Amino acid sequence: MTKFTVISGTSSEELAKKLAKKLGANLLKSQLRIFPDGESKITLKGKPKKNKIIVIQSTYPPVDENLIQTLSIISKAKEFGTEVIAVIPYMGYARQDREFLPGEVITMKVIANLFKSVGTSRIIVVDIHSMIGLKYFNIKSSNVTAIPDLAKYFSKLKLTNPLVVSPDHGGKIRAEEFAKILNTEFITLEKQRDRKTGKVKIKAKKIDGISGRDLILVDDMISTGGSIIKATEFLKKQKCKRVFVACTHALFGNEVDKKIKKAGVTKIISTNTIPGKTALVDISGTIAKAII
Ligand code: R5P
Repeated sequence: MTKFTVISGTSSEELAKKLAKKLGANLLKSQLRIFPDGESKITLKGKPKKNKIIVIQSTYPPVDENLIQTLSIISKAKEFGTEVIAVIPYMGYARQDREFLPGEVITMKVIANLFKSVGTSRIIVVDIHSMIGLKYFNIKSSNVTAIPDLAKYFSKLKLTNPLVVSPDHGGKIRAEEFAKILNTEFITLEKQRDRKTGKVKIKAKKIDGISGRDLILVDDMISTGGSIIKATEFLKKQKCKRVFVACTHALFGNEVDKKIKKAGVTKIISTNTIPGKTALVDISGTIAKAII
């Protein structure tokens, strides 16, 4: 038995179970009731046995609901704990970490303040969109990466001369790390997103040396699928063999999944920061290591 109690929010129950097992900690669930007016009512199903408490909950859609529930659970946990560690495997709003257009609110900063105000002692996130997001937390904060876990999965597949591809410059370090583990090369595409419409374009001409190779597009997240679809359409024109996708957070519903496959992707693999049928890579061991 370790010194921790793990409390799971309803969005991360399976991951919480795995994490508690890895840590040898006892697990407490929270019960959720949504009132007819949309309010969330949270009840902790028991009392934490230890005073070091880990609250785990991803804030994927419905983002605002999951967020308010996370903050509520933390505030309750604080009544029992000397230390409350928030593990937010997928941190919603992390892409709103800068003022891209004049007047835009940096919502990530607002959320960082909320975590502190409810009593969070430390926060751990997984492959946050950019490290800029973490700088708004005035508490101990760290990012753990799922790239080694994802790369290990791909190293077991039979791939033809694999090449790792980042759809944009923001993902270069992730692609580089992934390629290093697979002992292969990586390239970076140039992506442009219209800040008003959200539409994505790949700005690149012919790329030499990818014909006949299996490609692995590596990204932190898939939301609308626009980035992966545009990158795949571009890469397919370059006569590559198959296109695989490795991403930490797969936010999409079935429709996005279908559209990505239709664009020519053979397989999408994501982690269990967000549950779903592509979430084949378990990240609980990596989170546990970051906690102890
Ligand atoms: C953007 O810079 C991110 O790394 C992802 O590429 C992006 O957020 C994915 O979103 P979507 O699937 O909507 O293109």
